[in-house]
Amino acid sequence: MAILGLFSLFVLPSLTLGASLPEEAITELSVTLYNHLRATGEDENILCSPLSITLAMGMMELGAQGSTLKEIRHSMGYDSLKNGEEFSFLKDFSNMVTAEESQYVVKIANFLFVQNGLHVNDEFLQMMKKNFNGEVNHVDFSENIVVANYINQWVENSTNNLLRDLVSPKDFDAATHLALINAVYFKGNWKSQFRPENTRTFSFTKDDESEVQIPMMYQQGEFYYGEFSDGSNEAGGIYQVLEIPYEGDEISMMLVLSRQEVPLATLEPLIKAQLIEEWANSVKKQKVEVYLPRFTMEQEIDLKDVLKTLGITEIFIKKANLTALSDNKELFLSKAIHKSFIEVNEEGSEAAATSGMIAISRMAVLYPQVIVDHPFFFLIRNRKTGTILFMGRVMHPEAMNTSGHDFEEL
Ligand SMILES: *[C@@H]1O[C@H](CO)[C@@H](O)[C@H](O)[C@H]1NC(C)=O
Ligand SMILES: *[C@@H]1O[C@H](CO)[C@@H](O)[C@H](O)[C@H]1NC(C)=O
Ligand SMILES: *[C@@H]1O[C@H](CO)[C@@H](O)[C@H](O)[C@H]1NC(C)=O
Repeated sequence: MAILGLFSLFVLPSLTLGASLPEEAITELSVTLYNHLRATGEDENILCSPLSITLAMGMMELGAQGSTLKEIRHSMGYDSLKNGEEFSFLKDFSNMVTAEESQYVVKIANFLFVQNGLHVNDEFLQMMKKNFNGEVNHVDFSENIVVANYINQWVENSTNNLLRDLVSPKDFDAATHLALINAVYFKGNWKSQFRPENTRTFSFTKDDESEVQIPMMYQQGEFYYGEFSDGSNEAGGIYQVLEIPYEGDEISMMLVLSRQEVPLATLEPLIKAQLIEEWANSVKKQKVEVYLPRFTMEQEIDLKDVLKTLGITEIFIKKANLTALSDNKELFLSKAIHKSFIEVNEEGSEAAATSGMIAISRMAVLYPQVIVDHPFFFLIRNRKTGTILFMGRVMHPEAMNTSGHDFEEL
């Protein structure tokens, strides 16, 4: 028996990146993913990177053949593309994203760790290199402590030390033959930064109506903004969509906020690929007053469940056909972990919290106010291509600064 572990791993300090996948496919995937996490996560925070998962699955697809390949293509929404055509999109995407950009930093790192002695097909290695700029490293998985340290070190290196302890020794044993790691790192500064001296402690009201104190950033500036209605009043009628661009105007964070007294849960069923497009197309640049929590979040997701929800099942059982990767017919995927991290702050690096209170009036409205003091949904996306890099929701902002990361390194 040969087993392989997939760890799709990505990290994000302040925000995101983008490019040119078949973007509807990625948007559909994002929504499916979100709904799955919402169904299983009750009222927890959510964070994931559809981009990272798409790239990781692209690498698996390279190794697959027969019905396993067919299942992946179908589930990823590539049926309408010619065989293999998705790789040129994935490649363009990787290239575009990793191109030297002065305005933001995006790093995508792809790595295969292969058991000593397992033969990996040359063509697979070449395709990995060509399409994903992926490298291959041979290790001895039976030395599980050494391997775990090595992989964690590599992940740290690829993510500016943000993602630590991705894997543990118990993830590996003598049966492990291959681990695939995909790390995405993004760091961007807001085009219009928040001034640290305007950050105040603020009450955030959760869906269960309990309150927590969190650091709230503030600024008044030009952003993309729109008000939308669900058409029925069921979800509280009007909700706000705010897009805050990063330097370069290419990538932005889109925030979706229900009215104060309306739980996010009533808005979430509305989220569909088409609606995300509609938000993006309808928001208009205008002056807005923004109150946005400073937050940090990390989440680890068992991708096996998620991929099964998408319809990708064969790769996880002995029947898996990974003969394009290796002649070893026993290979199947035993593990798939996705881990992500995000920090949102005033400029892209941590600033000291100031205590105090801002008195705000919801009445005296010169400009639209977006007061993010209750649960919200967010996307980090490429404004040109629509590619969704990260998505999630914030239900418990106080849970998020406990991850123990060393933010000085941002
Ligand atoms: C894998 O798929 C290829 C292409 O369809 C097929 O020729 C091969 O027999 C399959 N191998 C296994 C082990 O299922
Ligand atoms: C991580 O980076 C350090 C310093 O650049 C280097 O010495 C080390 O070999 C790297 N480790 C891995 C696993 O890439
Ligand atoms: C999170 O940060 C806020 C503001 O800096 C602080 O008041 C709160 O105690 C922190 N929460 C935890 C759990 O560390």
